[in-house]
Amino acid sequence: MPSGDKSTGGYLVLLNVFCMIAHLVAAAENNVIGNGGKLPWHLPNDLKYFKSLTWGGVVIMGRKTYESVNKPLPGRLNIVITTNLDWKAEGVVRCSSIDEAIQYARDEQFKEIFVIGGGEIFNQTIHLADTIYLTRIHAEIFGDAHYPAIDESLFFKIAQEDYQMDEKHAFPYSFETWKRKSA
Ligand SMILES: NC(=O)c1ccc[n+]([C@@H]2O[C@H](COP(=O)([O-])OP(=O)(O)OC[C@H]3O[C@@H](n4cnc5c(N)ncnc54)[C@H](OP(=O)(O)O)[C@@H]3O)[C@@H](O)[C@H]2O)c1
Repeated sequence: MPSGDKSTGGYLVLLNVFCMIAHLVAAAENNVIGNGGKLPWHLPNDLKYFKSLTWGGVVIMGRKTYESVNKPLPGRLNIVITTNLDWKAEGVVRCSSIDEAIQYARDEQFKEIFVIGGGEIFNQTIHLADTIYLTRIHAEIFGDAHYPAIDESLFFKIAQEDYQMDEKHAFPYSFETWKRKSA
């Protein structure tokens, strides 16, 4: 941005302010989100929901989540966070910290930034999330990666759609949307 261009500078500041951060997560009743580097379930409708929300946008993930899929999600800007300066993958932006990843996404002028996991990244960014798109899987499932318990003094649920188990979905599940309460 050319120095002295105050109107453009102000516009960019406003874009930064209005850029929302969302968590997009599927979690069991006991907050398990993963096991052995993988998702412990297969819920095709949740994958479709994930795609519909993130398509054309930006997703930020930890290196272990990226490597569990091992290819960039098509149709989205993929940002992977790792401390390893030598790490690289085609079609992926590597960032060394959460702050760097969020700033990169903001600079690309996305209206909403989707943080998509895994447990380490969710735990370190929950205080930044404006919205949580939570697929709640109605079962207790064994796993080694967890989502933090949602603090209902900080977030409130604005929407919930319930689905029963069927031949393609081994568990009942709900799509929930949570918003941060204003200060
Ligand atoms: N159910 C869901 O919605 C969902 C979503 C995503 C993932 N998952 C599951 O979650 C599991 C993976 O989660 P995870 O907690 O093991 O790993 P993760 O959060 O995906 O990635 C952890 C890695 O991210 C990097 N990292 C973390 N914090 C950092 C920081 N502050 N600065 C720089 N780099 C940082 C480190 O990479 P380096 O070691 O390379 O430095 C760290 O090892 C898998 O089982 C996956 O399937 C579930």
